[in-house]
Amino acid sequence: MSIHEKLDALNKLREESAQGGGPDRIETQHGKGKLTARERLDILLDPGSFVELDRFVVHRSTDFGLADQKILGDGVVTGYGAIDGRVVYVFSQDFTVFGGSLAEAHAEKICKILDLAVRNGAPVVGLNDSGGARIQEGVVSLGGYADIFLRNTKASGVVPQISAILGPCAGGAVYSPAITDFVYMVRGISYMFVTGPNVVKTVTHETVSSEDLGGADVHATTSGVAHFVCDSEIECLHGIRRLMGFLPSNNLDGPPSHEPSDPTDRRDEDLLTLVPDNTNKPYDMVEVIKRVVDDGELLQVHQEYAGNLVVGFARLGGHSVGVVANQPAVLAGVLDIAGSLKGARFIRFCDAFNIPLVTFEDVPGFLPGVEQEHGGIIKHGAKLLYAYCEATVPKLTVVIRKAYGGAYDVMSSKHVGGDFNVAWPTAEIAVMGPRGAVEILFRKDIAAADDPDAKLAELEAEYRDQFAHPYLAAARGFLDDVIDPRDTRPALISALETLLTKRDKAPPKKHGNIPL
Ligand code: HXC
Repeated sequence: MSIHEKLDALNKLREESAQGGGPDRIETQHGKGKLTARERLDILLDPGSFVELDRFVVHRSTDFGLADQKILGDGVVTGYGAIDGRVVYVFSQDFTVFGGSLAEAHAEKICKILDLAVRNGAPVVGLNDSGGARIQEGVVSLGGYADIFLRNTKASGVVPQISAILGPCAGGAVYSPAITDFVYMVRGISYMFVTGPNVVKTVTHETVSSEDLGGADVHATTSGVAHFVCDSEIECLHGIRRLMGFLPSNNLDGPPSHEPSDPTDRRDEDLLTLVPDNTNKPYDMVEVIKRVVDDGELLQVHQEYAGNLVVGFARLGGHSVGVVANQPAVLAGVLDIAGSLKGARFIRFCDAFNIPLVTFEDVPGFLPGVEQEHGGIIKHGAKLLYAYCEATVPKLTVVIRKAYGGAYDVMSSKHVGGDFNVAWPTAEIAVMGPRGAVEILFRKDIAAADDPDAKLAELEAEYRDQFAHPYLAAARGFLDDVIDPRDTRPALISALETLLTKRDKAPPKKHGNIPL
């Protein structure tokens, strides 16, 4: 055979592999409103950058008639490409081939991608669309999953791992995305559950649809499994590209920085009026953050979950930062179980990947109540505290208004390693708010007063004068300064630039024991 004939044969095989499960199954996939594995990669990656690996891999099973059905690639397209010019490793499950089900060879391809990503220090994006463990390959399929879980875990904190769920993801299969750093879901086409509606019906007699049990909205709002929820696959794939712009390629790199178009010395007059004078009135902390960060851009993570704490990525002076902020517009910005989990996970991601943390604080305390106590606010709140204490990245904090009780300590205070802590003159830093404090300290005096309400108001005013301000903390050096709110952006950028060379190493240990 001549080289040209051999090339023709190669091209034929390449064309065959690009067809996946064939035109009919591709049509069925499109009929469900879903893109194919390759179409997804075309949208995710820079044009023309995808390099496919292992396109000739097929399964080796002979069970249940599989011997007669070998399809090039074995149901997953793997390789590497670029997002904004930076290398990423990818796998994209092909539902048109055995329902994207995972078995020995399919798993080996994904494992190779994870190994390459770790060895070469590049992020991994996994596009999941699979019927789960390939039934015909039995325990070998289960073993394939476990091989992936092990690699996901070892890669955790070494390279960013991002999962998009673009179809079914059921049973133990959910645990690979769950170990990765960020999970994207798309309304109407994604679902994730450990046991599906039929098993639920048999075991608990509950009737529930796939969407209500494990659809995108449920995981984005209630379980917190999904960090991002999108209306379409295209929005999802573009969203991953946007997220990647804030992240370093690996734990030894810094995050990408850009020449900022937004002036670093920009003051913002509106910061003087955004926060109401009445300390019990809510306001939108996202507005405050947007006025401080570059170009008003904040990419919220877990936006639909635990709205009382806002977390997300932004830039300050062109540098990527992780923002953590109490949100007075939701539950007065109180810390609860869900908020603590959300914050802790985000802080640990930023710390693992050298992304400085900027905390905007307005917190009345932890949420009281039987439900919270019995739900374990002690151990879950401890996660947030632990995450802040453990983080060695630059930590900058602005106390906007309330910083009461244990929540003051937790929210990146000087005491837990805050590097640059400032407050606005509107800050109130104390053991508790005026009303609660005087009711405890002066209960008898208030009861004995001719006019208890007047007495309460008088004592409250006295307490407010004495304690509800930032100057006692500043006098101790717990705050580095009290700043004009309009100067928040320049103050943070100037401090951040001094902290980019921060050196802080945790003592050697195998690993800590975060209260899980
Ligand atoms: C082998 C599978 C498969 C599987 C689907 N297919 N799932 N083949 N193993 N797990 C095949 C189908 O036979 C079909 O082949 C093609 O994929 C498309 O499937 P359809 O059923 O026609 O598609 P659809 O109607 O869209 O339904 C999709 C589905 C359903 C809901 C995912 O296929 C399904 O319920 N599959 C089984 C799901 C499951 O229980 N998996 C095991 C989960 S437990 P043809 O040739 O007709 O096109 C698990 C454990 C992991 O994964 C453990 C890790 C520790």
